[in-house]
Amino acid sequence: MGLRKADKKNPVAAFTLCLLLGATTGLASQAQHASPHAARPLSSQKLVARMTLEEKIGQLVLLPAVVQGKEVTLSQDQRELVREGKAGAILNLVGAEATDQVQAIAIRESRLGIPLVFAADVIQGRNTIFPIPLALAASWNPSLVREVARRAAEEAWASGVRWTFSPMLDVSRDPRWGRMAEGPGEDPYLASRLARAWVEGFQGKGLGQPGTLASCPKHFVAYGAAEGGRDYNSVEVSDHLLWEVYLPPFLEAIRAGAPSIMAAFVSLNGIPAVANQKLLRDLLRKQLGFQGVIVSDWGALGELTIHGVAKDRVEAAFKALRAGIDMDMSSEIYLRNLGSAVRAKRELEALLEEAVLRVLEFKRRLHLWEHPFTQPLPPPSASWTKLDRELARKAATQTFVLLKNEGGVLPLSPTIRRIALVGPLFDNSETPLGPWRTRQPQSGAVTLLEALQEELGDRGEILTAGWPWGQPTQRDKAKVLACARQADVVLLSIGELVHMDGESASRATLGLPAGQEELVELVASVHKPAVAILFNGRALALPELVNQVPALLEVWFPGVESGHAICDVLLGKESPSGRLPVSFPRSVGQLPVYYNHRRTGRPPGQMFTSRYIDSPVDPLFPFGYGLTYTQFQYGACQSTPRSFHRREKIRVGAWIQNVGKRPGEEVVQLYVRALSGELARPIRELKGFQRIYLLPGQRQWVEFSLQAEDLGYWDPEGVFRVEPGIYQVWISPNSQEGIPGTIELLEG
Ligand code: NOJ
Repeated sequence: MGLRKADKKNPVAAFTLCLLLGATTGLASQAQHASPHAARPLSSQKLVARMTLEEKIGQLVLLPAVVQGKEVTLSQDQRELVREGKAGAILNLVGAEATDQVQAIAIRESRLGIPLVFAADVIQGRNTIFPIPLALAASWNPSLVREVARRAAEEAWASGVRWTFSPMLDVSRDPRWGRMAEGPGEDPYLASRLARAWVEGFQGKGLGQPGTLASCPKHFVAYGAAEGGRDYNSVEVSDHLLWEVYLPPFLEAIRAGAPSIMAAFVSLNGIPAVANQKLLRDLLRKQLGFQGVIVSDWGALGELTIHGVAKDRVEAAFKALRAGIDMDMSSEIYLRNLGSAVRAKRELEALLEEAVLRVLEFKRRLHLWEHPFTQPLPPPSASWTKLDRELARKAATQTFVLLKNEGGVLPLSPTIRRIALVGPLFDNSETPLGPWRTRQPQSGAVTLLEALQEELGDRGEILTAGWPWGQPTQRDKAKVLACARQADVVLLSIGELVHMDGESASRATLGLPAGQEELVELVASVHKPAVAILFNGRALALPELVNQVPALLEVWFPGVESGHAICDVLLGKESPSGRLPVSFPRSVGQLPVYYNHRRTGRPPGQMFTSRYIDSPVDPLFPFGYGLTYTQFQYGACQSTPRSFHRREKIRVGAWIQNVGKRPGEEVVQLYVRALSGELARPIRELKGFQRIYLLPGQRQWVEFSLQAEDLGYWDPEGVFRVEPGIYQVWISPNSQEGIPGTIELLEG
């Protein structure tokens, strides 16, 4: 791991230190508002001084609630652990009644009355299920993400949750990895902008305020680079790549005030993250300045013996604490073995106390002593539901990416009367909810069929032909053909079932599953206008589909308002404005395919260049790509001044005009490339973006401000460097198009 020189001016370190000090000195005022049942709010240090070894370890134990039939609850044994002060936090217990009941045990029956913190994976919302994170990344809209996170936090807060294991900030360049669905896509800059938005959205006006959740960016770090795209597989990543690609979103989340971080399951360059002292203590704490709580991922401490880095569970406990894991999620390694480890190695005591202090400070920042129990949030939940549904619908429409629209099939003409809905997903209400809706109370998503029926009423006719996930029969096929023949337009609802994405859902192929290629061929043979509506949680490789249908709309997993949002876009009430946050490859053999790859000495061309003899090198659809219902024209990229010194700023802008016939939103993107320097740098790097809305004929000057730091890079030692020289700059609609301008960063 490369070490960055200790940065005395590190604002993150200074900020967190203040919080630690502030949290301790502000305790007197907290005491005045303390719950009558809470322990006297001693300073954390005094509290630690009173704790037994078991009670200290208890604060580091994160217990998972257990599923009993349809209920998620705490077992009698677990309640007993709470009573004995041997649990610090509870995962997955949700609901005012359930959490208050268990909190009462902690506050009133345990010796020191230390409150518990209730945690949950609030990933796509709590009651209202919003689009999956990858889809939200496709909105390229940090304000929208902030709004979604804020509402999700309010909903979860009302049901007792105070800590969410979100956002997932794993940059991923390999769509075989099913967890691409949960993350921000392939680019560190976009991921960093969204990281801040997630953290700010969850944490609102400040930790501990009503309706806010503590965020927990995860999974530290480079989990998205699991070899072969196989979940839980080991990761080998150079220090340079770590700094350039995988760390930036975490750094931004820390700067935005994230008070906790989750360590990954996987090993990085040979050492599992939860036993990796260099990673957690040297890199995360010292270099990035993070002083919050580090929690393990589920069961990860128990896996240290399986990785083969601990001979037994006591050694696993020792290595995890030494590495810097403050809380053990669900493995019970700390609960059952940390005591023996500490008794055997007394030097661990200091590390244990530090970890306990961090957990107690975290709880103080959440105001758990003053407000251990749930409180209702005004206004009443009925009107929330309406607002939430509206937000879910608006969010979904902004995430859809129009990949193809030959002949202007979309938006559908108002004269269309007969619409055929074919494929396996038009009446599926589970899949659009995405992989993280588990254990969430709300019913299924509005299906495309339901929404279209609502929309058309008796002004049109809907014909339907499903498609099985097993083997289609001749009857299935005949029905598809008959339906397509009778219709004015065919809407194909295709893609992945929800369980094909998310954790433990890696794929070795990236085509359409369940024989859906045959379905597409059948529809194509009828030569009717057809629109493929693609549900999925990753980039797919679909060159045949793209050739066979005139229009293709990527809708990801849109959440509870799925059908309504899709109708809004199909019928032209909303214009599609999402852009790809990941490159779509042509085949699995091309992987990895990502836009910001390094330059080679032999760029793809003829013989003896970096190419394939049987496939193009470039993606099917590049990062940043997406069409609208209108067309935008980009003027030349201009900069003022053309050259600048280190402490100056430069403005780079271009005229963008809506030259089509409809209003539309464009995501204007700024890319740079260094033409020379010590390292071979990426072919392009995203450095800014803006969403603009233009009426037909309207034009707008879109400008970005660049400073020297925007042109810099992290070297393999973790030192941030900015090199003088010539840089190319693009203002373009995606990562492949556009004509570059040049700017020069001068010496000195
Ligand atoms: C395992 C997942 O990797 C992590 O993202 C999640 O937060 C935990 N399980 C808890 O559910």
